[in-house]
Amino acid sequence: MDIIERINKLKNEKNAVILAHNYQPEEIQKISDIIGDSLELCIAARDTDADIIVFCGVDFMAETAKVLNSGKKVLIPEIIETDCPMAHQLPPEVILDAKKKHPYAKVIIYVNTLASAKALADATCTSANADLVVNSFEEDEILFGPDNNLGYFVSRRSDKKIIPMPKGGHCYVHKMFTLDDAKAVKENYPNAELLIHPESNPELQEIADHVMSTGGMVKHVLNSKCDEFIIGTECDMISRLKIDLKKAGKSKKLIPLRKDALCTSMKNITLEKIEKCLMDENYEVKLDEKIIEDARKAIERMLSI
Ligand code: 13P
Ligand code: SF4
Repeated sequence: MDIIERINKLKNEKNAVILAHNYQPEEIQKISDIIGDSLELCIAARDTDADIIVFCGVDFMAETAKVLNSGKKVLIPEIIETDCPMAHQLPPEVILDAKKKHPYAKVIIYVNTLASAKALADATCTSANADLVVNSFEEDEILFGPDNNLGYFVSRRSDKKIIPMPKGGHCYVHKMFTLDDAKAVKENYPNAELLIHPESNPELQEIADHVMSTGGMVKHVLNSKCDEFIIGTECDMISRLKIDLKKAGKSKKLIPLRKDALCTSMKNITLEKIEKCLMDENYEVKLDEKIIEDARKAIERMLSI
């Protein structure tokens, strides 16, 4: 039996489901039951009947699965090197401090945060629904973090005062995109649409044809009449798009905005680690009950919108 057959056998024996984020390496996406953006994976984790959820993504994503389905065993195949640096930029102390300074503001935080931070929020949001979540509140002031660029995206779509928390919060992968990168690729592909993730800098959001989450990019590329797209997000998004285009029997030209836009934390999961994870049922995500309860309220507020 090859490794893929062995993984499938273990998965069936243990009634496990494998969830993978759109930035996972191609071979991981191909063996997963569900591939998605962070919102789609939240919903999949909440709704699964499987006994074990194997989460192929970064730490905050596996934690979110545990919060939404705490009765299940949630496993992450690699525990050390799968932290999202942006999620660690908003520890609970920063939120508590900001709340003291802005007592009337609502706290809306990106799902790219640890459960301990979510437990202090009024709601979470993802890049697919950040503006909707913010605009669903009546309050005029919103403490928003950690990603300042997603904060900019929201501020362009809301009349509310968006207060960044912390100042300078960012994703190092999306922060590297520049106007010069866009200009250089556009010169070679003048007819291609530029799709930009909202974690990218404001100047790129301003010149993009569309600013959208990774899930939004999948729907757009599949349904658009355009045949060429410059993908302004992490490089393995192209692997995800190719899988869906192949399934739909379509062919489109996909050009990365930068070939070096790689989220290293997403690349530490391998087929070997998934097999081991299923065999040993390691590493299990464990969270404090109170954090689960409070974080769930913030995530459910988002999911109710
Ligand atoms: P999506 O919500 O678009 O999947 O983005 C998650 C993420 O980590 C982007 O860097
Ligand atoms: Fe975190 Fe950026 Fe990687 Fe997304 S791409 S998981 S925000 S470091």
